[in-house]
This record gives sequence, C-alpha cells and structure tokens, in this order.
Amino acid sequence: MKLFKNLSRSVKGKVAIITGAGSGMGEATAKVFAEEGVKVVATDVNLEAVKRVSDEINTNGGTCYALHLDVTDKTEIEDCLEESIKKFGSLDFVINNAGISSATALEDENYENYWDDTLSVVLTGQIKLIRAALPHLLKSDNARIVNISSTEGFGASPYHSPYTAAKHGVIGLTRSLALELGPKGITVNCICPGPINTNMTAAIDEKDKETYARRRVGLKRYGEPEEVAHATLNLCLPSSSYINGVYLPVDGGLSIRRA
Ligand code: NAI
Repeated sequence: MKLFKNLSRSVKGKVAIITGAGSGMGEATAKVFAEEGVKVVATDVNLEAVKRVSDEINTNGGTCYALHLDVTDKTEIEDCLEESIKKFGSLDFVINNAGISSATALEDENYENYWDDTLSVVLTGQIKLIRAALPHLLKSDNARIVNISSTEGFGASPYHSPYTAAKHGVIGLTRSLALELGPKGITVNCICPGPINTNMTAAIDEKDKETYARRRVGLKRYGEPEEVAHATLNLCLPSSSYINGVYLPVDGGLSIRRA
C-alpha cells in the first residue's frame, strides 16, 4: 500500500562529509549513514582513527573514504572537498561534528589559548566548512547541513565558558543560516547532545557518571553515540524537508528537568 509518494526516507547514494569521524559520535554517524547507503567522506585530524572507521565500513559493505582534515585549516578544507568531489562526484550532507572540550577557570593563565582553540574548532571550523561546501550543496536536490552543538548550546556549566560560548554560537549560526540557505534549498539544523559515552567523557569516573545521570537525566543514563547518529540521519532524510533551523536536544530528557 502506498498512500503518499512525494517524500522518501531513503538517503541511498547521497554523499556526506563528516568531521571528527575518527571517534565517538562522528564515528557512529559515519557508520549509521553508511548502513543507509550514504557514500561517506569520513574526516578527522586523527587520520589513523578515521582510516580504522573507514576500513570497518568498507569491509562491512559500505562506502567510505577517509581523509585527514583539521577543521581549523581553510586550505585543508578546500583540498578535502576537492578530493571528495573527485571521489564521489557530488555532495549532499555536511555534518559538522568535530569538537574539543576542556574545563578552564577565568583565572587560568592559559585561558586565552583555551578560548582561541575551542572557538576555532567548535564554531569557526563549522562555518569554514559550510562556506567551502556551499557551491557543491547548491547543486544537490537534497542538501542538508547538520551542526553538532550541545545542551551547553542553550544551558551552561561553570568553568566551561569557551565551550559554552562556542556551542551557543553554533545554535546562532545554525538559525541564521537556516533563514539564509533555506530558500536556496539547503536546510540547516542543529543537534544538541546531552551526556554521551565517547572519548570526550571517557575520563569521567563511571560512578560520577551514574550519579549525574540519576540526578539530571530523565532516562537516568548516559546516551550512546549511535543514538545521536540516528537523530542526525533523521534530519538528512528527504522526508525531513520542512525541518529547518531547529536545535534538537538528544539528551534523554536532561534539558526538561527542573532540578
Ligand atoms: P570525541 O572526542 O569522541 O570525538 C571528537 C573527534 O573530533 C575526535 O575524533 C577528534 O580527533 C576530532 N577533532 C578534534 N579536533 C579536531 C579538529 N581540529 N579537526 C578535525 N577533527 C577534530 O567526542 P564526541 O563526544 O564524539 O564529540 C562529537 C561532538 O559532540 C563534539 O562537537 C562535541 O563537542 C559534541 N558533544 C559531545 C558530548 C558528549 O557528552 N560526549 C555532549 C554534547 C556535545
């Protein structure tokens, strides 16, 4: 039975570039997209890590191409896109996932370095890739940009001011670009993960994670990278064509808890 025929849930044959795909949510996103038949350009500043991800995908019947990419480096972004287009011929999805995070107090003597490094990877890196990818996205009939922010993008924690500022910036960037690029056929959305089990949170003691999750998260647990990857995929479906400019918490209910 077919009641509607216009909007498909298939992304088979589309091409995605994913940053920070060597671990955590980026890795999961590369794998989930590949499972759906997307040709994935998996990029990371850690080439060895992203090659491992790519080998795993290709061995399991997917299509993935690993490239070194430091999102702070404009020239490398341009080279990387050129390589991707040479390899797969087109580009449909940009997934801005790469990120770094470290706690720092205002009095820290290295505060300004943390600020510059965090802003350049977490926020400026996203717009650099978007600007470079734009001519290719404009040729796609299903162009999607998904920026990874955080629940820190609309909430805040002490001693994380560079990260919190950058993630707030990602939401602002997403919303402005959604209005600018939407009419040109590119939707721009944002995912705000809550606490997720990845390398970024690996140093936190398991007991502390449990206590935090029990007190703060509706689902009483940390999330898994794959659970975020599927939310990202959903925003890329052709059938998600009217979702534009949202920031979607994928946080097990963290952000709706009052205390
Ligand atoms: P992760 O540490 O497992 O992965 C981050 C990846 O980004 C790594 O493979 C790393 O090599 C790469 N990367 C770092 N600097 C880079 C650069 N300059 N250029 C390119 N790649 C670079 O961390 P996770 O958790 O998977 O992080 C993914 C995104 O999710 C980040 O934007 C992070 O801020 C965000 N996030 C993470 C949360 C968590 O609880 N793990 C919560 C909310 C947001």
